[in-house]
Amino acid sequence: MPTRKKIGLIGAGNIGGELARLVANKELGDVVLFDIASKENFAKGKALDLEQNGSVLGYDASIRGTSNWDDLQGADVLIITAGVPRKPGQSRDDLVATNLPIIRDVASNAKRVCPDAFVIVISNPLDAMVYEYKRVVGAPKEKVVGMAGVLDSARMQLFLAREAGVSVKDVRTTVLGGHGDDMVPVLGYCTINGIPVGQVIAKEKLDAIVERTRKGGGEIVGLMGTSAYYAPATSAVAMAEAYLLDQKRLLPSAVYLDGEYGYKDIFMGVPVVIGGKGVEKIVQIDLTDDEKTMLAKSAKSVQSVIDVVKKSA
Ligand code: LMR
Repeated sequence: MPTRKKIGLIGAGNIGGELARLVANKELGDVVLFDIASKENFAKGKALDLEQNGSVLGYDASIRGTSNWDDLQGADVLIITAGVPRKPGQSRDDLVATNLPIIRDVASNAKRVCPDAFVIVISNPLDAMVYEYKRVVGAPKEKVVGMAGVLDSARMQLFLAREAGVSVKDVRTTVLGGHGDDMVPVLGYCTINGIPVGQVIAKEKLDAIVERTRKGGGEIVGLMGTSAYYAPATSAVAMAEAYLLDQKRLLPSAVYLDGEYGYKDIFMGVPVVIGGKGVEKIVQIDLTDDEKTMLAKSAKSVQSVIDVVKKSA
């Protein structure tokens, strides 16, 4: 008999709540909203509010708040937002010392209760946190991904659509590399219904959009005083849905590279196919020499944070 999927959301903060709302609304499965003991009641309250929301919207998903890892036993998907978000003036990398012990604790508990889950890490600094999660759990590389490329590409999609005066639905973008200010928006693969954006938008406008995309997270932190949560949550749910429904979507995601694009033992954003087996394929696209140089710069930034993590292992 088919059973409902179990989706564990680690962290009941802003992104956790939005993740729970989306997962329930899409009926992807039942939700376990986890937070640490001191925030258990907050997680329980948020879960109850979201369950009651279902009576109006008409979803039947169970949403349960907890601080007990045993409630995540056998989870099919884990989306991890645990850790602190940055404040204005901080870079994502500034969070490494604070968030590293948190991701280690999450990983060791997840290894015990749901070692086979498909895991999407959102916590920052993203590429280093997802690297550490995989290392601690010893999970296969197909089952652990970082959410960043979908979000960064979505931001760029919006900026291009507004500039061109077209619907966001008609704009496709690809942003690769680490989830930091050196990320690599690949203009050659950005199109408006197949038309390269360079044919529609002037070069200086495109350069400004590339820059705005790279700083997209920081722009919101500067405005709100904390990190974005709607678009990050929607991006992670698109990845979870691709896995749960075996959609075989091609999505830029931070994955473990083992020689692809010339990089080894690093997590970085590249185009991948996500389906029922997890990361089913890493798609290697042609890059110009300039793009390769930008990717190398981004990889160097990611590696420097991973090195900090490795040294303290
Ligand atoms: C984002 O890009 O919105 C997240 O990585 C959060 C942040 O602080 O930038």
